Amino acid sequence: MVKTEICMVKDPEAPESREILRRAARILKNGGLVVFPTETVYGLGADATDSDAAGRIYAAKGRPADNPLIVHVASADDVSRYAVETEESRRLMQVFWPGPLTVVLPARETIPSTVTAGLPTVAIRCPSHPVARALLMEVGIPIAAPSANLSGSPSPTCARHVADDMMGRVDMILDGGDCEIGLESTIVMPDKDGGLTLLRPGAVTPEMLRTVTPKLRIAEAVLGQLPEGNAPLSPGMKYRHYAPSSPLVLLDGDCHARQHYIEKQSGNIAVIGYEEDLPLLRRSLTEERLFSLGRQQDLSMQSHRLFTLLRDIDKQGFDKILAPLPPTGGMGMALYNRMIRAAAHCIVHLPKD
Ligand code: TXA
Ligand code: MG
Repeated sequence: MVKTEICMVKDPEAPESREILRRAARILKNGGLVVFPTETVYGLGADATDSDAAGRIYAAKGRPADNPLIVHVASADDVSRYAVETEESRRLMQVFWPGPLTVVLPARETIPSTVTAGLPTVAIRCPSHPVARALLMEVGIPIAAPSANLSGSPSPTCARHVADDMMGRVDMILDGGDCEIGLESTIVMPDKDGGLTLLRPGAVTPEMLRTVTPKLRIAEAVLGQLPEGNAPLSPGMKYRHYAPSSPLVLLDGDCHARQHYIEKQSGNIAVIGYEEDLPLLRRSLTEERLFSLGRQQDLSMQSHRLFTLLRDIDKQGFDKILAPLPPTGGMGMALYNRMIRAAAHCIVHLPKD
Protein backbone atom coordinates (compact mmCIF):
# COMPACT_ATOMS: atom_id res chain seq x y z
CA MET A 1 0.00 0.00 0.00
CA VAL A 2 1.27 3.47 -0.84
CA LYS A 3 -0.19 6.77 0.30
CA THR A 4 -2.22 8.22 -2.57
CA GLU A 5 -2.50 11.97 -2.85
CA ILE A 6 -5.48 13.36 -4.84
CA CYS A 7 -4.92 16.85 -6.28
CA MET A 8 -7.47 18.95 -8.14
CA VAL A 9 -6.06 20.64 -11.25
CA LYS A 10 -8.69 22.88 -12.82
CA ASP A 11 -6.53 25.35 -14.74
CA PRO A 12 -3.03 23.97 -15.40
CA GLU A 13 -1.71 27.54 -15.82
CA ALA A 14 -2.74 28.66 -12.31
CA PRO A 15 0.21 28.99 -9.85
CA GLU A 16 -1.13 26.35 -7.42
CA SER A 17 -1.57 23.93 -10.36
CA ARG A 18 1.99 24.58 -11.55
CA GLU A 19 3.24 23.53 -8.11
CA ILE A 20 1.15 20.33 -8.21
CA LEU A 21 2.39 19.52 -11.74
CA ARG A 22 6.00 20.02 -10.60
CA ARG A 23 5.40 17.53 -7.76
CA ALA A 24 3.76 15.07 -10.18
CA ALA A 25 6.75 15.37 -12.53
CA ARG A 26 9.16 14.68 -9.64
CA ILE A 27 7.22 11.54 -8.72
CA LEU A 28 7.40 10.31 -12.34
CA LYS A 29 11.13 11.04 -12.62
CA ASN A 30 11.69 9.05 -9.41
CA GLY A 31 9.95 6.01 -10.89
CA GLY A 32 6.55 6.58 -9.23
CA LEU A 33 2.98 6.37 -10.56
CA VAL A 34 0.76 9.38 -11.36
CA VAL A 35 -2.81 9.16 -12.68
CA PHE A 36 -3.74 12.01 -15.03
CA PRO A 37 -6.79 13.02 -17.08
CA THR A 38 -6.82 12.84 -20.87
CA GLU A 39 -9.58 13.77 -23.33
CA THR A 40 -10.44 10.03 -23.66
CA VAL A 41 -10.11 8.38 -20.23
CA TYR A 42 -7.77 8.73 -17.22
CA GLY A 43 -4.28 7.27 -17.68
CA LEU A 44 -2.05 5.53 -15.11
CA GLY A 45 1.35 7.02 -15.90
CA ALA A 46 5.00 6.13 -15.33
CA ASP A 47 8.32 7.07 -16.99
CA ALA A 48 8.19 5.20 -20.33
CA THR A 49 11.99 4.95 -20.49
CA ASP A 50 12.26 3.27 -17.06
CA SER A 51 11.61 -0.46 -17.10
CA ASP A 52 11.03 -0.76 -13.32
CA ALA A 53 8.61 2.16 -13.31
CA ALA A 54 6.62 0.62 -16.18
CA GLY A 55 6.61 -2.68 -14.28
CA ARG A 56 4.83 -0.93 -11.40
CA ILE A 57 1.95 -0.06 -13.75
CA TYR A 58 1.25 -3.76 -14.40
CA ALA A 59 1.36 -4.49 -10.67
CA ALA A 60 -0.97 -1.58 -9.78
CA LYS A 61 -3.57 -2.59 -12.40
CA GLY A 62 -3.20 -6.35 -12.10
CA ARG A 63 -2.53 -6.25 -15.85
CA PRO A 64 -1.28 -9.30 -17.74
CA ALA A 65 2.41 -8.85 -18.67
CA ASP A 66 1.74 -9.54 -22.37
CA ASN A 67 -0.52 -6.48 -22.84
CA PRO A 68 1.65 -3.49 -23.90
CA LEU A 69 1.25 0.15 -22.80
CA ILE A 70 0.64 3.32 -24.81
CA VAL A 71 3.48 5.89 -24.73
CA HIS A 72 2.29 9.51 -24.41
CA VAL A 73 4.42 12.30 -25.86
CA ALA A 74 4.22 16.11 -25.68
CA SER A 75 4.56 16.60 -29.42
CA ALA A 76 4.93 14.78 -32.76
CA ASP A 77 8.55 16.02 -32.81
CA ASP A 78 9.37 13.56 -29.99
CA VAL A 79 8.20 10.45 -31.86
CA SER A 80 11.40 9.78 -33.83
CA ARG A 81 13.32 9.21 -30.57
CA TYR A 82 11.09 6.31 -29.62
CA ALA A 83 9.76 4.88 -32.89
CA VAL A 84 10.50 4.59 -36.61
CA GLU A 85 8.12 6.92 -38.43
CA THR A 86 6.64 6.49 -41.89
CA GLU A 87 5.31 9.11 -44.29
CA GLU A 88 1.83 7.83 -43.51
CA SER A 89 2.25 8.11 -39.74
CA ARG A 90 3.52 11.68 -40.05
CA ARG A 91 0.44 12.69 -42.05
CA LEU A 92 -1.87 11.11 -39.47
CA MET A 93 -0.11 12.93 -36.65
CA GLN A 94 -0.29 16.22 -38.51
CA VAL A 95 -4.05 15.90 -38.93
CA PHE A 96 -5.15 14.27 -35.68
CA TRP A 97 -2.58 15.27 -33.02
CA PRO A 98 -2.85 16.38 -30.35
CA GLY A 99 -5.93 14.19 -29.96
CA PRO A 100 -7.47 10.74 -29.46
CA LEU A 101 -5.39 8.79 -32.00
CA THR A 102 -2.71 6.21 -31.13
CA VAL A 103 -0.29 5.06 -33.83
CA VAL A 104 1.58 1.73 -33.63
CA LEU A 105 5.10 1.95 -35.11
CA PRO A 106 8.34 -0.08 -35.03
CA ALA A 107 9.92 0.63 -31.61
CA ARG A 108 13.41 1.99 -30.97
CA GLU A 109 15.62 0.70 -28.15
CA THR A 110 14.84 3.77 -26.03
CA ILE A 111 11.56 2.06 -25.07
CA PRO A 112 12.06 -0.89 -22.67
CA SER A 113 10.41 -4.22 -23.43
CA THR A 114 8.29 -3.89 -20.27
CA VAL A 115 6.39 -1.13 -22.10
CA THR A 116 6.04 -2.97 -25.44
CA ALA A 117 5.43 -6.34 -23.72
CA GLY A 118 8.23 -7.68 -25.90
CA LEU A 119 6.61 -6.67 -29.21
CA PRO A 120 8.80 -5.06 -31.90
CA THR A 121 6.32 -2.16 -32.07
CA VAL A 122 5.27 0.67 -29.74
CA ALA A 123 1.91 2.46 -29.50
CA ILE A 124 2.31 6.27 -29.33
CA ARG A 125 -0.14 9.09 -28.74
CA CYS A 126 -0.09 12.83 -28.06
CA PRO A 127 -3.12 13.73 -25.92
CA SER A 128 -4.95 17.05 -26.23
CA HIS A 129 -6.18 17.43 -22.62
CA PRO A 130 -4.58 20.59 -21.13
CA VAL A 131 -3.58 18.81 -17.89
CA ALA A 132 -1.99 15.88 -19.77
CA ARG A 133 -0.17 18.34 -22.02
CA ALA A 134 1.06 20.45 -19.11
CA LEU A 135 2.31 17.33 -17.28
CA LEU A 136 4.14 16.02 -20.38
CA MET A 137 5.72 19.42 -20.92
CA GLU A 138 6.77 19.73 -17.27
CA VAL A 139 8.25 16.22 -16.98
CA GLY A 140 10.08 16.27 -20.34
CA ILE A 141 10.03 12.47 -20.71
CA PRO A 142 7.47 10.21 -22.43
CA ILE A 143 4.80 8.78 -20.13
CA ALA A 144 3.66 5.16 -20.49
CA ALA A 145 -0.01 5.01 -19.50
CA PRO A 146 -2.78 2.46 -19.85
CA SER A 147 -6.28 3.37 -18.69
CA ALA A 148 -6.25 3.89 -14.90
CA ASN A 149 -8.71 1.11 -14.01
CA LEU A 150 -8.09 -2.26 -12.39
CA SER A 151 -7.63 -4.77 -15.19
CA GLY A 152 -11.06 -5.96 -16.41
CA SER A 153 -13.21 -3.07 -15.16
CA PRO A 154 -14.42 -0.14 -17.33
CA SER A 155 -11.90 2.64 -18.02
CA PRO A 156 -12.23 5.57 -15.58
CA THR A 157 -13.71 8.78 -16.97
CA CYS A 158 -13.61 10.84 -13.74
CA ALA A 159 -11.43 11.00 -10.62
CA ARG A 160 -14.08 9.18 -8.54
CA HIS A 161 -13.73 6.10 -10.78
CA VAL A 162 -9.94 6.30 -10.44
CA ALA A 163 -10.12 6.58 -6.64
CA ASP A 164 -12.48 3.56 -6.52
CA ASP A 165 -9.87 1.42 -8.29
CA MET A 166 -6.49 2.94 -7.46
CA MET A 167 -6.38 4.26 -3.85
CA GLY A 168 -3.27 2.83 -2.15
CA ARG A 169 -1.86 1.65 -5.49
CA VAL A 170 -0.53 4.90 -6.99
CA ASP A 171 1.39 7.91 -5.62
CA MET A 172 -0.78 10.68 -7.00
CA ILE A 173 -4.10 11.24 -8.78
CA LEU A 174 -4.54 14.48 -10.74
CA ASP A 175 -8.25 15.30 -10.80
CA GLY A 176 -9.08 17.22 -13.98
CA GLY A 177 -12.83 16.60 -13.95
CA ASP A 178 -14.82 14.49 -16.42
CA CYS A 179 -13.12 13.20 -19.58
CA GLU A 180 -14.82 14.74 -22.59
CA ILE A 181 -14.85 11.72 -24.92
CA GLY A 182 -15.23 8.89 -22.42
CA LEU A 183 -13.95 6.04 -24.63
CA GLU A 184 -10.28 5.18 -25.22
CA SER A 185 -8.31 6.46 -28.22
CA THR A 186 -8.50 5.07 -31.74
CA ILE A 187 -5.51 2.76 -32.42
CA VAL A 188 -4.12 2.32 -35.94
CA MET A 189 -1.13 0.55 -37.42
CA PRO A 190 0.36 1.68 -40.76
CA ASP A 191 0.75 -1.27 -43.19
CA LYS A 192 3.74 -1.86 -45.48
CA ASP A 193 1.61 -1.07 -48.57
CA GLY A 194 0.79 2.51 -47.48
CA GLY A 195 -2.57 1.48 -46.01
CA LEU A 196 -3.71 1.44 -42.41
CA THR A 197 -5.23 -1.15 -40.08
CA LEU A 198 -7.71 -0.05 -37.42
CA LEU A 199 -6.97 -1.99 -34.23
CA ARG A 200 -9.35 -0.18 -31.85
CA PRO A 201 -12.09 2.30 -32.87
CA GLY A 202 -12.43 5.60 -31.00
CA ALA A 203 -13.36 9.25 -31.51
CA VAL A 204 -11.18 9.48 -34.62
CA THR A 205 -13.65 7.49 -36.74
CA PRO A 206 -12.97 5.30 -39.82
CA GLU A 207 -14.60 8.00 -41.94
CA MET A 208 -12.12 10.57 -40.57
CA LEU A 209 -9.13 8.25 -41.06
CA ARG A 210 -10.14 7.58 -44.68
CA THR A 211 -9.83 11.29 -45.46
CA VAL A 212 -6.07 10.86 -44.83
CA THR A 213 -5.57 7.18 -45.76
CA PRO A 214 -8.27 5.81 -48.09
CA LYS A 215 -6.91 2.27 -47.76
CA LEU A 216 -8.24 1.40 -44.28
CA ARG A 217 -8.61 -2.18 -43.10
CA ILE A 218 -10.68 -2.91 -39.99
CA ALA A 219 -9.01 -5.64 -37.87
CA GLU A 220 -11.25 -8.67 -37.43
CA ALA A 221 -11.48 -8.36 -33.64
CA VAL A 222 -12.97 -4.82 -33.83
CA LEU A 223 -16.51 -5.84 -34.78
CA GLY A 224 -16.51 -9.55 -34.11
CA GLN A 225 -15.18 -12.30 -31.96
CA LEU A 226 -11.81 -13.82 -32.79
CA PRO A 227 -11.94 -17.57 -33.35
CA GLU A 228 -10.35 -19.50 -30.48
CA GLY A 229 -6.55 -19.65 -30.81
CA ASN A 230 -6.19 -16.69 -33.23
CA ALA A 231 -3.63 -14.12 -32.10
CA PRO A 232 -5.08 -10.58 -32.33
CA LEU A 233 -3.02 -7.75 -33.86
CA SER A 234 -3.47 -5.84 -30.62
CA PRO A 235 -2.94 -7.99 -27.49
CA GLY A 236 -5.61 -6.09 -25.52
CA MET A 237 -8.31 -7.37 -27.85
CA LYS A 238 -8.11 -10.88 -26.48
CA TYR A 239 -9.06 -9.88 -22.95
CA ARG A 240 -12.64 -9.57 -21.76
CA HIS A 241 -12.53 -5.84 -21.13
CA TYR A 242 -14.91 -3.28 -19.66
CA ALA A 243 -16.85 -6.09 -18.02
CA PRO A 244 -19.63 -5.34 -15.54
CA SER A 245 -20.07 -8.14 -12.98
CA SER A 246 -23.76 -8.59 -13.87
CA PRO A 247 -24.12 -10.08 -17.37
CA LEU A 248 -24.87 -7.52 -20.09
CA VAL A 249 -27.13 -8.53 -22.99
CA LEU A 250 -27.38 -6.38 -26.14
CA LEU A 251 -30.71 -6.14 -27.92
CA ASP A 252 -30.65 -5.74 -31.70
CA GLY A 253 -34.02 -4.22 -32.60
CA ASP A 254 -36.08 -1.04 -32.57
CA CYS A 255 -37.56 0.50 -29.48
CA HIS A 256 -40.84 -1.46 -29.72
CA ALA A 257 -39.12 -4.80 -30.26
CA ARG A 258 -36.85 -4.12 -27.29
CA GLN A 259 -39.80 -3.09 -25.13
CA HIS A 260 -41.62 -6.29 -26.08
CA TYR A 261 -38.58 -8.39 -25.11
CA ILE A 262 -38.00 -6.49 -21.86
CA GLU A 263 -41.63 -6.92 -20.75
CA LYS A 264 -41.21 -10.69 -20.83
CA GLN A 265 -38.11 -10.67 -18.60
CA SER A 266 -38.36 -11.54 -14.93
CA GLY A 267 -35.93 -11.04 -12.04
CA ASN A 268 -33.84 -8.13 -10.90
CA ILE A 269 -32.99 -6.53 -14.26
CA ALA A 270 -31.60 -3.11 -15.23
CA VAL A 271 -32.33 -1.56 -18.62
CA ILE A 272 -30.16 0.91 -20.49
CA GLY A 273 -32.18 2.79 -23.10
CA TYR A 274 -32.09 5.85 -25.30
CA GLU A 275 -33.62 9.00 -23.84
CA GLU A 276 -36.50 8.75 -26.33
CA ASP A 277 -37.31 5.17 -25.22
CA LEU A 278 -37.85 6.06 -21.59
CA PRO A 279 -41.57 6.94 -21.72
CA LEU A 280 -42.34 3.54 -23.27
CA LEU A 281 -40.00 1.66 -20.92
CA ARG A 282 -41.55 3.36 -17.87
CA ARG A 283 -44.79 1.49 -18.57
CA SER A 284 -43.23 -1.78 -17.45
CA LEU A 285 -40.23 -0.75 -15.34
CA THR A 286 -39.71 1.30 -12.21
CA GLU A 287 -37.41 4.34 -12.35
CA GLU A 288 -34.53 2.76 -10.40
CA ARG A 289 -34.11 0.07 -13.07
CA LEU A 290 -33.93 2.55 -15.96
CA PHE A 291 -30.73 4.20 -17.21
CA SER A 292 -30.48 6.68 -20.06
CA LEU A 293 -27.56 6.48 -22.45
CA GLY A 294 -28.54 9.82 -24.06
CA ARG A 295 -30.51 10.67 -27.20
CA GLN A 296 -30.42 8.02 -29.92
CA GLN A 297 -28.62 10.22 -32.46
CA ASP A 298 -26.15 11.67 -29.94
CA LEU A 299 -23.32 9.14 -30.14
CA SER A 300 -20.88 11.54 -28.42
CA MET A 301 -23.10 11.78 -25.35
CA GLN A 302 -23.55 7.99 -25.33
CA SER A 303 -19.76 7.49 -25.48
CA HIS A 304 -19.29 10.06 -22.73
CA ARG A 305 -21.77 8.25 -20.46
CA LEU A 306 -21.21 4.54 -21.17
CA PHE A 307 -18.47 3.68 -18.66
CA THR A 308 -20.02 5.75 -15.86
CA LEU A 309 -23.32 3.99 -16.41
CA LEU A 310 -21.72 0.54 -16.39
CA ARG A 311 -19.83 1.32 -13.17
CA ASP A 312 -22.90 2.80 -11.44
CA ILE A 313 -25.22 -0.01 -12.50
CA ASP A 314 -22.65 -2.60 -11.46
CA LYS A 315 -22.61 -1.32 -7.87
CA GLN A 316 -26.33 -2.04 -7.56
CA GLY A 317 -26.03 -5.79 -8.08
CA PHE A 318 -28.66 -6.46 -10.75
CA ASP A 319 -29.02 -10.02 -12.11
CA LYS A 320 -28.85 -8.85 -15.71
CA ILE A 321 -28.40 -5.62 -17.71
CA LEU A 322 -30.18 -5.10 -21.06
CA ALA A 323 -29.00 -2.43 -23.52
CA PRO A 324 -29.54 -1.52 -27.17
CA LEU A 325 -26.96 -2.76 -29.71
CA PRO A 326 -25.32 0.41 -31.07
CA PRO A 327 -25.03 1.18 -34.81
CA THR A 328 -21.55 0.83 -36.34
CA GLY A 329 -21.25 4.09 -38.33
CA GLY A 330 -19.06 7.01 -37.21
CA MET A 331 -18.45 7.09 -33.45
CA GLY A 332 -20.95 4.20 -33.25
CA MET A 333 -18.16 1.76 -34.10
CA ALA A 334 -16.29 2.61 -30.88
CA LEU A 335 -19.46 2.21 -28.79
CA TYR A 336 -20.31 -1.05 -30.58
CA ASN A 337 -16.78 -2.39 -29.99
CA ARG A 338 -16.82 -1.60 -26.24
CA MET A 339 -20.37 -2.83 -25.72
CA ILE A 340 -19.98 -6.20 -27.49
CA ARG A 341 -16.92 -6.84 -25.33
CA ALA A 342 -18.62 -5.73 -22.11
CA ALA A 343 -21.42 -8.11 -23.11
CA ALA A 344 -18.96 -10.92 -23.94
CA HIS A 345 -20.62 -10.94 -27.41
CA CYS A 346 -24.07 -11.77 -26.05
CA ILE A 347 -26.46 -10.26 -28.62
CA VAL A 348 -30.17 -11.07 -29.03
CA HIS A 349 -31.48 -10.37 -32.54
CA LEU A 350 -35.14 -9.35 -32.18
CA PRO A 351 -37.77 -9.91 -34.87
CA LYS A 352 -38.34 -6.94 -37.19
CA ASP A 353 -41.89 -5.99 -38.19
O1 TXA B 1 -7.21 6.71 -24.77
C1 TXA B 1 -6.31 5.91 -24.51
O2 TXA B 1 -5.69 5.30 -25.38
C2 TXA B 1 -5.97 5.71 -23.02
C3 TXA B 1 -5.39 7.00 -22.48
C4 TXA B 1 -4.89 6.87 -21.07
O3 TXA B 1 -4.39 7.47 -23.36
N1 TXA B 1 -5.10 4.60 -22.85
C5 TXA B 1 -5.52 3.32 -23.02
O4 TXA B 1 -4.54 2.38 -22.76
O5 TXA B 1 -6.63 3.02 -23.38
P1 TXA B 1 -4.86 0.82 -22.55
O6 TXA B 1 -3.58 0.23 -22.10
O7 TXA B 1 -6.02 0.64 -21.70
O8 TXA B 1 -5.09 0.30 -24.00
C6 TXA B 1 -4.02 0.20 -24.87
C7 TXA B 1 -4.29 -0.80 -25.94
C8 TXA B 1 -4.27 -2.23 -25.47
O9 TXA B 1 -5.36 -2.92 -26.04
C9 TXA B 1 -2.94 -2.76 -26.02
O10 TXA B 1 -3.01 -4.13 -26.32
C10 TXA B 1 -2.78 -1.90 -27.27
O11 TXA B 1 -3.24 -0.65 -26.90
N2 TXA B 1 -1.37 -1.78 -27.66
C11 TXA B 1 -0.36 -1.21 -26.97
N3 TXA B 1 0.80 -1.32 -27.62
C12 TXA B 1 0.54 -2.00 -28.77
C13 TXA B 1 1.32 -2.46 -29.86
N4 TXA B 1 2.63 -2.26 -29.90
N5 TXA B 1 0.70 -3.12 -30.87
C14 TXA B 1 -0.63 -3.33 -30.83
N6 TXA B 1 -1.43 -2.94 -29.82
C15 TXA B 1 -0.85 -2.28 -28.79
MG1 MG C 1 -7.51 -0.21 -20.76
